[in-house]
Amino acid sequence: MEYLDLPPMLGASGQVRLPGSKSISNRVLLLAALAQGETLVRDLLASDDVDRMLEALSALGIAWSRDGERDDYRVVGAGGAFPVKSAELFLGNAGTAVRSLTAALALSGGDYRVSGVARMHERPIADLVDGLRQIGAEVRYTGTDGCPPLRILPAQIRSGGTVKVRGDVSSQFLTALLMSLPLTGGEATIEVVGELISKPYIAITLDLMARFGVQVRREGWERFHIPGGVSYRSPGTVFVEGDASSASYFLAAGAIGGGPVRVRGVGRDSIQGDVRFAEALAHLGARIEMGDNWIEARAPESGVLSAFDLDLNHIPDAAMTLAVAALFADGPCTLRNIASWRVKETDRLAAMATELRKVGATVEEGRDYLVVMPPATLRAAAIDTYDDHRIAMCFSLVSLGGCRVRINDPKCVNKTFPTYFERYGEIARAVPVVAIDGPSASGKGTVAARVATALGYHCLDSGALYRVVAVAAQRAAVDGADEAALARIAAELPVRFEDARVWLDGVEVTDAIREEHISVRASQVAALPAVRAALLERQRDFCRPPGLVAEGRDMASVVFPDARYKVYLTASAEARARRRYKQLIDKGLAANMESLVKDLQERDARDAARTVAPLTRVADAVLLDTTDMGVEEAVAFVLHRVHAGTDAPV
Ligand code: DC
Repeated sequence: MEYLDLPPMLGASGQVRLPGSKSISNRVLLLAALAQGETLVRDLLASDDVDRMLEALSALGIAWSRDGERDDYRVVGAGGAFPVKSAELFLGNAGTAVRSLTAALALSGGDYRVSGVARMHERPIADLVDGLRQIGAEVRYTGTDGCPPLRILPAQIRSGGTVKVRGDVSSQFLTALLMSLPLTGGEATIEVVGELISKPYIAITLDLMARFGVQVRREGWERFHIPGGVSYRSPGTVFVEGDASSASYFLAAGAIGGGPVRVRGVGRDSIQGDVRFAEALAHLGARIEMGDNWIEARAPESGVLSAFDLDLNHIPDAAMTLAVAALFADGPCTLRNIASWRVKETDRLAAMATELRKVGATVEEGRDYLVVMPPATLRAAAIDTYDDHRIAMCFSLVSLGGCRVRINDPKCVNKTFPTYFERYGEIARAVPVVAIDGPSASGKGTVAARVATALGYHCLDSGALYRVVAVAAQRAAVDGADEAALARIAAELPVRFEDARVWLDGVEVTDAIREEHISVRASQVAALPAVRAALLERQRDFCRPPGLVAEGRDMASVVFPDARYKVYLTASAEARARRRYKQLIDKGLAANMESLVKDLQERDARDAARTVAPLTRVADAVLLDTTDMGVEEAVAFVLHRVHAGTDAPV
């Protein structure tokens, strides 16, 4: 399973240019395909769902081309139904494409098959099929009744009249009927049965149909009249707005992580209902500003988001972002009227409840609502994404709680926002990590501890962890060659660090881990890959706000490869031997310079040659040779780099 680890973040600020709206992109493509004339579609969304639509249009005989390197497309309209009368279309998990194409195909007088991924074959489409059958369309279920795959056959289509369609499961059925009915040429009325959900999406449909020359008259949200004798005409150029649902992640990041975060591509004039997510955020206390084409969010004055109880029926997609924002609120939060979550890319109600619990929230999952009780502190967790782009994107925000989070199968964001994590990385500021590596006796332990104190950062002495494993193994009388048993000890290690002291299972071992025979055993256990793997996550847990100084041989390469500052501390073997000599003499122990130098040289050679975590300086680490340098000078050097924000290697 592929995954992406997001480090704990300190906050978020900056600007993001949004990708094009999925809802607008797929609607405009279909309207342009059915219209008379050529349409230039500017800033089309580049994503899987849009690719499925483009492929389908090609298969149906619609000519389109990409205009240069930009996300601009020219679509040559058919001026009515699709010219190709027989086709098999695979539409992945693109709900917008399946629903709207099914309706247009049913009125195109051909023999078509429509299918998708397994999940698409569980997503309901019966309300739309029932509507289409009322005007004579012949649509058959070839798999499970009520769901794709479908076979559509030529039929005698009644021109106009009244069609009834349910509006309480998905608004996409109504959108599909609205966009396709002008193909019949007759005057038609659509009556919505049940309370129409997600109304703003219908508003997008009507707005775009009007741009292509078909004005629908609506009576409330119950009845829609399509005039007779109308047909779509290209408006020439259509600009696709930025995606307002995608905007929600960044706006929430600004509200949670301080901000300001500004999104460009949607604003006050947007036709997308999800811009009203900004209102919901404001209701939570976030400070929101809006321009014609941008929205900006900052944290509340108080610093904390307020608990909320909101009906979110009008913004079902962006509401998922609020469910994660609830983790940062000052009390239990209720998201109401979100039953449509159950028929989306996955059962989002169940999935969100499960994943929110993983990070520590207490969650009540109702039939059409969710109550999220935020935890006192967030827990690092691996988030499953259920092939649902929005789950992947909204859970990235957990990292703003100063908590690392793993996103499984992160590529599912390709559905609507292939570059999401890059954009998120640009606005979120990772908790800074200073990784200090180097050979034994280079003074890295002393330097790391002093740097951490000076910066007020946490400190990880990774060698101490291996030493504690050695002590625990000795106490449990585990054989030094029993890798599996040692890895178990490492995984469960009941260790606690406080200031410069160390406890194992409640017993202080600060001095015990420094004994010579433990050094030898520590170096043996550290050579076991299973032990190293068992300690990996535990080491990463040390990374918390405001920052971490991590010391040890694989800090910059394996444990924190993205560390902001990497320092490789070294000194000649003679200089290191002199320091060790002084330490031993100060402790009243016997010491011999010559053998110390020889020992160190041999150990360096062994360390560099070993296969497991060899001692190496990574390319992006700055080399600090302390042969002729005191501790103070070395500490000052590291601090200077951190204060100057310099992370480039020299
Ligand atoms: O730095 P130290 O002497 O306390 O480390 C104890 C042992 O653990 C030593 O043999 C090196 C090894 N070690 C390691 O392999 N990887 C680390 N990140 C830290 C220490």
